Order: sequence, then structure tokens, then C-alpha cells
Amino acid sequence: MKGIILAGGAGSRMYPISQLYSKQLTLIYDKPLIYYPLSVLMLGGIKDILIISNEETIPFYKKLFLDGTHLGLNIEYALQSAPNGIAESFIIGDKFIGSDGVTLILGDNIFYGSLDFFQRALNRTHGATVFGYRVTDPERYGIVEFDHNGKAISIEEKPKVPKSDFAVPGLYVYDNKVVDISKNLEPSPRGELEITDVNMVYLKQGDLNVEKISRGVAWLDTGTPESLLQASNFFGAIEDRQGLKVACLEEISLHMDFIDLDKFETVINNMPKCAYKEYLVKIHSDRTK
Ligand code: G1P
Repeated sequence: MKGIILAGGAGSRMYPISQLYSKQLTLIYDKPLIYYPLSVLMLGGIKDILIISNEETIPFYKKLFLDGTHLGLNIEYALQSAPNGIAESFIIGDKFIGSDGVTLILGDNIFYGSLDFFQRALNRTHGATVFGYRVTDPERYGIVEFDHNGKAISIEEKPKVPKSDFAVPGLYVYDNKVVDISKNLEPSPRGELEITDVNMVYLKQGDLNVEKISRGVAWLDTGTPESLLQASNFFGAIEDRQGLKVACLEEISLHMDFIDLDKFETVINNMPKCAYKEYLVKIHSDRTK
């Protein structure tokens, strides 16, 4: 299974910082936003990751993650030259995906809590899995409608009159057919290759699994300055209370056995003196006790 993080976009809602780079680099409490979706892929056991972004932002990601070796990952980068839609990811990522399945996560989507729902999707080898999450503002999202048996019957992009309160978060698990499906899409009226259109093709073919995410999981929005602040406060509260970090990539690499303790130590030694390093030093000493 390959992983793609789409982390570009015009980000005009985040002006003035959007003049410099895309919002996925802004801090959520103590680390850049993109750490959170990357951590989800890593916790799913995905090690081959393509980050797609715009020309301005790719150099920053390269500086942050290099080729991923220090995290036990293989990270590649690709350019989306204009915001042509989420589904363009699979055309841009064609070679990277090869003959594998692919998970796409949007670089501004944060999930917190048990990721069992994601693991179940990764265990399926055929078709596509998307998720449904109850929200209070369904007109802002892709919306999935269920019949009385809980079977998904329609999926619509940002409907004016939503048929349900279940939004489709920006985490999608596909088999290899997604590449061909995306290549055959027509741009939507807003001029984008819509991920919802990809999901509609799977739905029509009877190959779309839609799994509701339980209320114990947080799917956080990061579309506006207010929601970024809310997310920072949320993770600040959790991290300060437990003394454990969320989406700490080095810790996850060690936990997932992507790197061994020696490599972990080398990674820590390369960090400047800071609270993030102190946290990792403590993890290291707990492991060697
Ligand atoms: C995109 C998708 C939408 C999905 C949302 C999740 O919306 O088009 O279906 O529900 O991501 O974050 P956009 O980021 O374009 O507003």
C-alpha cells in the first residue's frame, strides 16, 4: 500500500501566510499541521509516501522530511502546478503508485483516537473505502447518504441541501483501479477533478465501502484560522495533561519498528536543544530501562 499526502492548494483563506507557503506548514500546537496526517499513514504501516504540493511549499517539505530515511520511510515529492482537484493526485502519482493500492490523505485533515476504522479499510484488498463522520456543517463537505440498512446510496460534493449529516473526511483507501478511474474523469463545474466523482464510480460499480467513524474519534477541521486555533488548543490540552505527544513522527517510527533504538538515538542527537528533543530523550531512556 502506497500513501499520498496532498498538501498544496491555493489556501487563499489563510492569507497572509498563504503568500509564503501552504497552510499545512502552520503550527498545530507544537508541530506543523502536516505531521498529523503523516502520522496517520505511518500508524497504518505505510512507509512509501508521496507528498504532492505546490512549487513554493515543496522545498519546505524537503527540508522537513528529506527522503524520510531517518524516519524509516521513503518520502518522495511531486508538483501539482495548479489546484486542479484532489483526484489529480492519482494521475500525478501514477508512477509512484505502480501496481499497488493507495491511501490518500489530505494534508489538512487531522484524526485523533482509535484508528481501527482505518486499519479495517487497509485490510481490504478490493474496491475503495471512504468514511462517514457526523458534522454540524454538512454543506461544506462531500456528503454520503445511507439507506435504512446503513448501505451508502449516494455521495455528493458540497450539496446545498445535504441528504445527511455524514461528511466524507479527506482519508481514502483505494485499490489500483483508482488511477484509471481518475484519468477518465471530466473536470467538475468548478474546474477540478473531484474526489467525489472517483467515489461515485466505485459506488456505481458496487465497490465502495463506506464506514462510519465512531463518535470517540476526533476528525478536526483546519480550514479557517478559528479552527486552527481550536485544533491547537485541543492538542495542547491533551499533550499537557498526559505528557504524551500526538503525531510525534520519531516516536511513531520507533513504535512501528520503522527504525531501531540506535537510529532513534542518532535522530535525537541531531536535534537542537528543545522540548521536543527532551520528550524523545525520555522515550529513549524509558526504552532502555
Ligand atoms: C475536500 C473534498 C470533500 C471532503 C473534504 C474533507 O473538500 O472535496 O469531499 O469532504 O475535502 O476535508 P475541500 O478541501 O475541497 O473543501
